Amino acid sequence: MSDVKIKVTDREGILHEVDAPTDMNMNLMEVIRSYELAPEGTIGICGGMAMCASCQCYVNSAHDIPEKSDDEEAMLSEAYFVKDNSRLGCQIPITTDLEGFEVELAPEEP
Ligand code: FES
Repeated sequence: MSDVKIKVTDREGILHEVDAPTDMNMNLMEVIRSYELAPEGTIGICGGMAMCASCQCYVNSAHDIPEKSDDEEAMLSEAYFVKDNSRLGCQIPITTDLEGFEVELAPEEP
């Protein structure tokens, strides 16, 4: 079992450092949910299909993560509060490359 440490700033601006497992086929949205860093029902609404943007976060570190798919690109083009460093958390798999990864949750969709 191997974990990576990830820093997540929640929607209240509170920084959490969490251990994310790299061997459980999880994505960032699922890790954030499992630590209850956003209230139930406000994140992961579509179940990780790149269809809701409730898992939007801002990436604040220069880690190598997969490029956006067309679906993610399309969803972000319709979402609120999008910035240049916006990503959908459900589209970021937890891998050993993510040690020290830093993200901030985007505000809840209106
Ligand atoms: S959970 Fe819906 S887009 Fe990520």
